[in-house]
Amino acid sequence: MFLPLVIFTSIEKPHFIAANLHLVNPICRSLTSGLHLMHSQLPTEPTMPTYKLSVNGKTYSVEAEEQMPLLWVIRDLIGLTGTKYGCGIAQCGACTVHLSGAPVRSCSFPVAAVGEQPVTTIEGLSDDNSHPVQRAWIAEQVPQCGYCQSGQIMSAVALLASNKNPDDQAINEAMNGNICRCGTYPRIRKAIKTAASYPH
Ligand code: FES
Ligand code: FES
Repeated sequence: MFLPLVIFTSIEKPHFIAANLHLVNPICRSLTSGLHLMHSQLPTEPTMPTYKLSVNGKTYSVEAEEQMPLLWVIRDLIGLTGTKYGCGIAQCGACTVHLSGAPVRSCSFPVAAVGEQPVTTIEGLSDDNSHPVQRAWIAEQVPQCGYCQSGQIMSAVALLASNKNPDDQAINEAMNGNICRCGTYPRIRKAIKTAASYPH
């Protein structure tokens, strides 16, 4: 009566029991083969899907949970840390990147939804800060602490791609979701107009 009790209370170690039980008591051989079967039916570790992403013109292959935010993939798996984490709930704009040229909040965008759309991060604008919006940001000395600024720049680039000469209202509407706790909004507006004045 003792041995069956051991079997059922130690079911989480079927390998050990299956390997040794038949040595202890021949009566248990049929149970031993049953345990082999049970062990083969234990759930295996789930494998994560692999995604091929085009980021800044390069192709990356990453393993990630379907719901992993694109921001984690960009920062932690690919290693591009220019895109920042602010709120994590699509409310501040610090994590803004482009998907097929359109601004998205990468903190709230699952990697599985990217598909074949090319991703552009702040690192993809230029190698040397020579993008017109980056030059305008430098010329107008926009950043204070700088934390929000890669998101601000990505939104500004998307705005200027669709509106070459935005007025204050168009700028306010396009930049509305990008929060700057240092209050650099007047310089952001000025820099967008400066960038618009550069030949392009
Ligand atoms: S971190 Fe994504 S919107 Fe704030
Ligand atoms: S420059 Fe500090 S939060 Fe925008």
